[in-house]
Amino acid sequence: MEKFRPQFHFTPEENWMNDPNGLVYHNGYYHLFYQYYPDDTVWGPMHWGHAKSKDLLHWEHLPIALYPDSLGYIFSGSAVVDKNNTAGFGENALVAIFTYHNPEIENKGSDRFQTQGIAYSTDGGETWDKYTGNPVLQNPGIRDFRDPKVFWNDQKSKWQMVLAAKDHVQFYESVNLKDWSLISKFGFNDDPLLGVWECPDLFKLKVDGTEEEKWVLIVSHGGESAPNGGSGTRYFVGEYDGTTFTTDQNESQWLDYGTDNYAGVTYNNTPDQKRILIGWMSNWNYATKTPTEKWRSAMTLPRELELVKKNRGYLLKSKLIDAFEKMTSLVPANELMGVYPTGFTYEDLSQSLLSLDVSIKDSLRIELSNHSGDKYVMGYEMANGTFYLDRGQAGSLDFSEPYEKTSRQTMDIGSQEKLSLQIAIDASSIEIFINDGEYVMTTQVFPKHKFTEFKILNPEKITINDFFLKKVNVDDAEN
Ligand code: FRU
Repeated sequence: MEKFRPQFHFTPEENWMNDPNGLVYHNGYYHLFYQYYPDDTVWGPMHWGHAKSKDLLHWEHLPIALYPDSLGYIFSGSAVVDKNNTAGFGENALVAIFTYHNPEIENKGSDRFQTQGIAYSTDGGETWDKYTGNPVLQNPGIRDFRDPKVFWNDQKSKWQMVLAAKDHVQFYESVNLKDWSLISKFGFNDDPLLGVWECPDLFKLKVDGTEEEKWVLIVSHGGESAPNGGSGTRYFVGEYDGTTFTTDQNESQWLDYGTDNYAGVTYNNTPDQKRILIGWMSNWNYATKTPTEKWRSAMTLPRELELVKKNRGYLLKSKLIDAFEKMTSLVPANELMGVYPTGFTYEDLSQSLLSLDVSIKDSLRIELSNHSGDKYVMGYEMANGTFYLDRGQAGSLDFSEPYEKTSRQTMDIGSQEKLSLQIAIDASSIEIFINDGEYVMTTQVFPKHKFTEFKILNPEKITINDFFLKKVNVDDAEN
């Protein structure tokens, strides 16, 4: 197995990848396009790489879908199924809506170097043609004007777009995907200001267990914005009347409190109306320096989003999808060496899912380790309601100063006596879902060898109500 290569997360076969793009379900396949530079393992002139999957977990690599052209590089965007042929490219055509980034215009000092273009495919995404009338949305003089997320708004029977515009988002609408008009803007009183707004998404969700519906606006921020350093993604819960988005929220809520979940957006046109998000499992602070050789970056596991109402307000939950659970099988306790479940060794821990349900007296402390002494520690302190993780002794750190700086991460989840954790480990990534995904921490980690040991460091301070170790069967391909 190639060092650090995740086995049940999407990675490009080789070279550089960043944001997921064009997430759309069509004719039995979930398509995943992504920001791709095919000539190097660092960022460069952007293309849209392409893969498809029947279950969001086993991916088939496909040829590059979109290449840069005279209008610019192909930056992030979305894709829709044009069921009624509103654009005239054909019934059920796939239409991609993306940002053109023109480095020549940028180099001339103008701010108008990002515009929006479209491309279409009438063979289920195999081949793509750019629309000859591009760009479909000119730049109004805003330096960062990008990452269109387009969706069909049933109530208005129109296409709508949410677009990042430097320090806010703008909403547009269209009847044919070609002519767009501005309908509103949404910004937030951040103090201090966060980094540039990128990769927005807007969708409606029912609040769990009620008939109430709310709209969720997701936005990613570059720079030093996220609670644990570098780039991160937050969300707002509010109302959208088909024109304007509003929220009563006073504070930002983050989609993920780990350092490595950025630019996440959701699928259009899912067959079961589920809201599935995939993020880029990295951070602009150190993404180009991570110690992989042939390729760079992975996507997060796909996550089903749900909304719950708590005392602290609405929370957007990120849950493991059913297909992932189906890919796992229980490891019987007698296959583990040591004390089950508080301290054992298991060869395949590096492709596994740990589930733990505990009652806590005052704290919980868990360690994953290997024979070379790498330690990844996570835990919870009831007194201050803080969940933390520490990758500061977990293998390679010195490839980037900001990576080392963010080795310890915290999140306030409130004081609670019961905690459930699901921990998905895959070579160089660890995703921790707390209390059924109400809070998430996703991190990359580069241990010298794979993790083989699990230990609860303070078993006397907790009661274990439930524990499972599941092996992830990466070879059960469905495609
Ligand atoms: C986010 C981002 C997007 C942009 C793309 C360029 O990571 O900066 O805003 O479209 O990456 O690759």
